[in-house]
Amino acid sequence: MCGIVAAAARREVSEILLEGLRRLEYRGYDSAGMALIDNEHNLQLHKQQGKVCELEKAQKLRPHLGCTGIAHTRWATHGEPSGVNAHPHISGQRIALVHNGIIENHMRLREELMAQGYEFASATDTEVVVHLLHRALEGGKSLLKAMQDTVGRLDGAYALAAIDVDHPDQVVAARKGSPLVIGIGIGENFLASDQLALRQVTDRFIFLEEGDVVLISPSTLQIFDQAGAPVERKKSLISEAVEVADLGGFDHYMLKEIHEQPRALAATFAQAANYPGIDECFGAGAGAVFDRVKAVQIVACGTSFHAGMVARYWLEELAGIPCQVEVASEFRYRKRVTHADTLLVTVSQSGETADSLAALRNAQPGEFVASLVVSNVANSSLVRDSDLVFLTKAGMEIGVASTKAFTTQLVGLLMLTVALGRRSSMSEQKQQDVLAALRGLPEYVQQTLELNDDIERLSEAFIPKHHALFLGRGIQYPIAMEGALKLKEISYIHAEAYPAGELKHGPLALVDDDMPVVAVAPSDDLLEKLKSNLEEVRSRGGELFVFADRQAGFKSEARVQVLPMPHCPEVIKPIVYTVALQLLSYHVALQKGTDVDKPRNLAKSVTVE
Ligand code: AGP
Repeated sequence: MCGIVAAAARREVSEILLEGLRRLEYRGYDSAGMALIDNEHNLQLHKQQGKVCELEKAQKLRPHLGCTGIAHTRWATHGEPSGVNAHPHISGQRIALVHNGIIENHMRLREELMAQGYEFASATDTEVVVHLLHRALEGGKSLLKAMQDTVGRLDGAYALAAIDVDHPDQVVAARKGSPLVIGIGIGENFLASDQLALRQVTDRFIFLEEGDVVLISPSTLQIFDQAGAPVERKKSLISEAVEVADLGGFDHYMLKEIHEQPRALAATFAQAANYPGIDECFGAGAGAVFDRVKAVQIVACGTSFHAGMVARYWLEELAGIPCQVEVASEFRYRKRVTHADTLLVTVSQSGETADSLAALRNAQPGEFVASLVVSNVANSSLVRDSDLVFLTKAGMEIGVASTKAFTTQLVGLLMLTVALGRRSSMSEQKQQDVLAALRGLPEYVQQTLELNDDIERLSEAFIPKHHALFLGRGIQYPIAMEGALKLKEISYIHAEAYPAGELKHGPLALVDDDMPVVAVAPSDDLLEKLKSNLEEVRSRGGELFVFADRQAGFKSEARVQVLPMPHCPEVIKPIVYTVALQLLSYHVALQKGTDVDKPRNLAKSVTVE
């Protein structure tokens, strides 16, 4: 999604800005731009639809130089992807501004500004902000005061950074609802929407808080809170090495990340080896919190929501702990009744998903015992705002389609089940069985990866299709949901998941000889029920693709293809079967020729509502 990089230095910063944008590229965007104040105090602007490398080409052809600048990658919300709608937006040839987020009252502000003679070049919500800033500056306000007044007029979410030719060595910025971090240099300061963009120039950061307005110059750094009072914010030193994005011989990041799962799962579970009590894997004080927990509320989006759905089966069946799961975009706006002693658990690969963050922040004081996040990104907003943290060790995930992040989330949630279960009805033996299954998990995932060629062959049948159904029962239903999401996300085939028992209540009407039906069918307690549901499909001409272990007793025959899965402990089957479905969607997408790693319209980190 949108990315911001800004610099106030005594050296030329265009290459720093471009490198910052490159580091944010994997998040998904459709246009890029950069504005600098040159030595003669003129505003220099490059912006266009397309990739950062196009911006780089433009910069090489017609270099813009300057020591103060802002840059942006845009993921369109208001107004189509185009050069005109790309950021920075400018006003009066003196101010340039970049914005992440959505200004909800932009229509009203646009009318107000147009009535005063402001002309709009773009269809964006952002352009009102730069004109508001211009109006305040022309009215004699300082750069800081102009930004404070401007944000006072805005409803919605924003991270903003702006430069003004009349204040040629300063960048003014503000945040509410979208992340923004200061990078502290020596004789220079920086801003970005993610510290990753600035690791090229510093390892010292200040994560801004809600409502903060900040003014940086090469030698100064001033932060003001929502009320306008100067504040000090905590400085953080981030010293772990930056992971370098590298295909490592694979054709796509998604395929690489699928194949990294044995290592990522082992690394995630290895945290338990350091903390045999498991509690400590969730941070200091986790044990005391867990002692009080009587129920769990999980909130997440997309694939992370599916991880929460799986966890509900584990928490209720293995630990006897009541658990509710809800998508964050609904949870955050719903009037709800929360049972006493409930633990709020957010699940988020990026730790920056706007709806999940809002769900956490909207929790009423005292509503939950504590908040816990399962995330893959240390220092992310959700990690910083939560009481307890489980960090998955998936490593950087570049592919928009989440793979290793999902399966490592499941490991974290199963470890949480054990941590809570040992305080309730989970026997010592059961706890040991689960931990032993987790220890063996990488090997079963490796065996599943070795089915790659069989899955590739099976995937061919999906190429001409426009629709697909995914079926599962019990804990495999969320895995069917995840399989359907993966397929639609990267192959653009419309796919829906149903708990197989629901088929006859409607979706069966869709089944004909043109409808592939994928069944997640390991041998388990619900297998016979699932088999009856699959017969309903067969007798209506549907073509079945069954992912099952030998013990389930399926045989390939006319209109039934069985993919023989490894037989593994029951509790880890959801994780192992997920891997096969990831490979299925990858191969379908590959043969359809879609952009596997950057599917259309999607972004890696969804920082807008
Ligand atoms: C997964 O393949 C998707 N790209 C998407 O559903 C994702 O899981 C969702 O946006 C939530 O992201 P998060 O885990 O970073 O919060």
